[in-house]
Amino acid sequence: MNEITDQVDNSNEISDEQRRDPVRLNSIDQEKISRINSDIKEFDRSLGGGIVPGSVILIGGEPGVGKSTLLLEVSANLSKKGKVLYYSGEESEGQIKSRADRLGIASEDIFLLTMGDLEDLKISLKKLSPEFIIIDSIQTLNSRKTGGFNGSVSKLRHVTSELVEIAKSNNIAVFIIGHITKDGQIAGPKTLEHMVDVVLYFQGELQSNLKVLRVEKNRYGSVNELGIFQMSATGLTSVTDPSEVFLQKRDSIEPGTSVVASMKGMRSILIEIQALVTENPFGGNPRRMAIGFDPFRLSMLISVIEKKLRIPFYKSDVFLNITGGINLKETASDLAVCSALISSHKNLVFRGNMVFLGEVGLTGEIRPVSFIENRIKEAVNHGFKKFIIPKAQSDVNIKKAEILPVSNIKEFYSIMRDFTNKK
Ligand code: TYD
Ligand code: MG
Repeated sequence: MNEITDQVDNSNEISDEQRRDPVRLNSIDQEKISRINSDIKEFDRSLGGGIVPGSVILIGGEPGVGKSTLLLEVSANLSKKGKVLYYSGEESEGQIKSRADRLGIASEDIFLLTMGDLEDLKISLKKLSPEFIIIDSIQTLNSRKTGGFNGSVSKLRHVTSELVEIAKSNNIAVFIIGHITKDGQIAGPKTLEHMVDVVLYFQGELQSNLKVLRVEKNRYGSVNELGIFQMSATGLTSVTDPSEVFLQKRDSIEPGTSVVASMKGMRSILIEIQALVTENPFGGNPRRMAIGFDPFRLSMLISVIEKKLRIPFYKSDVFLNITGGINLKETASDLAVCSALISSHKNLVFRGNMVFLGEVGLTGEIRPVSFIENRIKEAVNHGFKKFIIPKAQSDVNIKKAEILPVSNIKEFYSIMRDFTNKK
């Protein structure tokens, strides 16, 4: 027994040169990340300021949202900086060419590979030495070398790990398009998230040409960034003033709506919140549904309102929707959510344009929010004049902004009664 242990120990012995020693964090020079801009403003923004060579970027989205359109436009711009190899397993050369014509793309340095497989891609890689590779889509890129069904999760992973290897060993950026289905079946791309450097989800609102590129993961930047686009007959254009676009449909103010100034990365965006509180006629379990907002937080806010304001919700179904396809993760939007809920429940409409900022705690206290000045300034620039904000931040002084500070939800409700009409 002893003999065996000794043997194992000996074989594990490593020389002094091989041994890794810890290094003081402070003494390490920061790695300079060089980035390549696609010059599509909102795309670069969501990547944290451009494309890092050697990185693998997964872009997920429902069919038809505009992934191929976006990546073709990105290819056109990138081809000015290096060769682009565009793999498509979904469309023929002719189809892609006609889309490129529609988008006004005429580039010498985009190379198409259609209906091939991973082995063909590797050969093209050797011949062309591209700087950028687009895979449209990962579900349609197969490998002859692995068993299993085409499109199966194990095959998806194998192909993706090969692509990661290609990106790292050649220092080229690889964009991988992944489909997700309408009912949220994201098993495919979801299982790839840990393998890649950046995960973006491209989402569009039904019946709207507005598209949002949301960051789920980024090894080189913030997940708080957001790219916003508009789809037109000539392709996608970057939206530089999202607040205007998000609020443009708001011509009449209805009960159940409110506006919050939300921070996305370092920019503030005005977003409309809509609540619908209806009587549950069958007396069953009341429903609590939220789109773009954490349903648990919604339940918590409802409970705070019930307890502190004695407004009953237990017989009501509650639906909450964040317009524009935006995900509101910030607690800074709590007060605006409460406002929309009470306004729908009581059928109250606010007089004048108001913005609500504040986190709501379990005891009904209104807590401070970050970057309050940026938020208020953005709203003032879009014509908002009255701001209900946390009392702790009442010293904020911004021209043309009328500040109404509140320290708890009861004070908020009494201000609300002063500024609303019954509809
Ligand atoms: P597409 O990029 O093919 O979506 P995906 O690759 O995500 O499946 O485009 C989706 C839709 O966009 C398609 O229905 C047509 C529309 N579209 C435009 O409105 N304008 C355009 O310039 C282009 C190219 C497409
Ligand atoms: Mg497509």
